[in-house]
Amino acid sequence: MKIIHVVGARPNFMKVAPLVDAVKAHNATCAEACRIKQLIVHTGQHYDDKMSKLFFDDLEIPKPDINLEVGSASHAVQTAEIMKRFEPVLLTERPDYVLVVGDVNSTIACSLVAVKLGVRVAHVEAGLRSFDRTMPEEINRILTDAISDILFVTEESGINNLRSEGIPTEKIHFVGNVMIDTLLKHRIKADQSSVLENLGLAFDNGMESKQVKPYALLTLHRPSNVDNKRILQGILAALSEISKRIPIIFPIHPRTLKKIREFGFDSYFSKLLTGWSAGSDLNKIYVVEPQGYLDFLKLLYSAKLVLTDSGGIQEESTVLGVVCLTIRDNTERPVTVSEGTNIIVGTDRDVIIDKTFICLDKQLNININKKVPRLWDGNAALRIIDILLKSHCRLK
Ligand code: UD1
Repeated sequence: MKIIHVVGARPNFMKVAPLVDAVKAHNATCAEACRIKQLIVHTGQHYDDKMSKLFFDDLEIPKPDINLEVGSASHAVQTAEIMKRFEPVLLTERPDYVLVVGDVNSTIACSLVAVKLGVRVAHVEAGLRSFDRTMPEEINRILTDAISDILFVTEESGINNLRSEGIPTEKIHFVGNVMIDTLLKHRIKADQSSVLENLGLAFDNGMESKQVKPYALLTLHRPSNVDNKRILQGILAALSEISKRIPIIFPIHPRTLKKIREFGFDSYFSKLLTGWSAGSDLNKIYVVEPQGYLDFLKLLYSAKLVLTDSGGIQEESTVLGVVCLTIRDNTERPVTVSEGTNIIVGTDRDVIIDKTFICLDKQLNININKKVPRLWDGNAALRIIDILLKSHCRLK
């Protein structure tokens, strides 16, 4: 069997890493004839070292076999460019499966090319729905699921969503969450990261373990939040108020940095991109460079709480037991609310402030009765490769 893994943007890398490992584990235990040949194709949607290479290094993902180097462009141009450059790869390599993950433009672009060439598509993280079609990711999810041959689902809501869209039950497999495979594998290794010391967040107090200064972690990059001046200003005004009670550390996404500069919002921040040290210039939002996987993981599990509009961080914080305030009106990952630590706070200034303050006041009680969602156990990738092998055998 031959498979091509597609990766394009930052949230794809932690999802593909365990799949590549699971194939390697399979190959190590079987005869030559049963081995799976795997290739990694990077579309180049994300290309900065800090958005891409750093993750390959941290997660020890093999260097991509092929890089399509599409870079940034409008949605139409980026998607079309990926399709144009991926088609010859498929024609040459002729894999049995193209494995796509998540909901980025690379996901739909490569799925569409594959399905039109008669190559089977397996979608990892299928079935998630925010029911908000203004989100580019929602369109990518719906379309990718509609044309995929095998759909791997992370949470039970995904099964219901796919069934109600008419996807045959036999195509749907509830396997757990590959991103959590990666988190559980690297949790201990992340302890070695010196990011807290580097940012002045941990200091020696003469005891065996270092003392960590309380802080909130922030990520923000959704176009609906950062591309609109009025909405971004409201969110920043809320964060500014919150930062009077607890310092906010903000690893900044390139899209957000660009918008902050364009709108002239620099005054909300301290030491834009130069880091900071404890005690200096408090009551500000501290902007730092985008972090690698291990450094970010340590920042996440050491934080008092996280404020975010990311999808993946809602899941990671649930597993780590860190309170997550999601700065959006909806989530496509409802299990993180019903079972995890996620609270949807929307984008209204006053609501963000109120809910954050409630969480800070009740910090000690907030995680009671929270649990890790079913099958988020570190073995999702093994289940996926097993199902792919069985499906391939049936077709032969
Ligand atoms: C993409 C995904 C989004 C995901 C996010 C994670 C889509 C539709 N969106 O959004 O689902 O949550 O990645 O980061 O696929 N840029 C750089 N360097 C890079 C990459 C991007 O400077 O390495 C800048 C460019 O100015 C670019 C902008 O960021 O125009 C946005 O990048 P793009 O890939 O279009 O979308 P994201 O907002 O990153």
